[in-house]
Amino acid sequence: MAKINPALGFEPFLDHVLINEQQLQARIADLGAQISRDYAGKDLVLLCILRGGVMFLTDLMRKLTVPHTIDFMAVSSYGVGARVSSGSPRIVLDVNTDIAGRHVLLVEDIIDSGHTLDHVVRFLETRQPASLKVCVLLDKEERRTVHIPTAYTGFKIPDEFVFGYGLDVDEVFRNLPFVGVVKKEYQ
Ligand code: PRP
Repeated sequence: MAKINPALGFEPFLDHVLINEQQLQARIADLGAQISRDYAGKDLVLLCILRGGVMFLTDLMRKLTVPHTIDFMAVSSYGVGARVSSGSPRIVLDVNTDIAGRHVLLVEDIIDSGHTLDHVVRFLETRQPASLKVCVLLDKEERRTVHIPTAYTGFKIPDEFVFGYGLDVDEVFRNLPFVGVVKKEYQ
């Protein structure tokens, strides 16, 4: 595996753009409209899982026309430097909000095996939210080992190593406005 030097910028690592900025923003606008209809009159909390979900959260909330609050959790399912899921998530930052009786929508960048969301959903259900649903931008459906019902999905994607728009390569390039595929030699 070739070594990544972030100082060179993202171009050397980019094989191709999988979802461009315009496609992302158009789909997020659709999701925002749908969520706004579905949660009209409900006490909505958007709960973002750090760190990858941040870009998606901030764009999605700008498209919502219903009142909502936001909060964050951090769950680690990958070992340091590892690029595949270990399948053993850990909650490293708990949510601050009391979610009992509120409508919680989990906002995630990607579902791979499903272990992270499975763990988070089980953890949050004990706090008795009025409802608990999942909104995910990217779904690598073929990688799933645990069933996770998703209420809102941005894009179903193939099993490729993707980065950008919240997703990192060795913790960098989360800021890119598109989702790209990493060249094979850097995977
Ligand atoms: C990624 C992603 C999901 C999880 C999905 O998080 O943001 O939370 O992996 O994988 P799974 O469905 O196999 O559990 P990661 O642990 O890489 O942290 P990050 O969001 O801080 O990059």
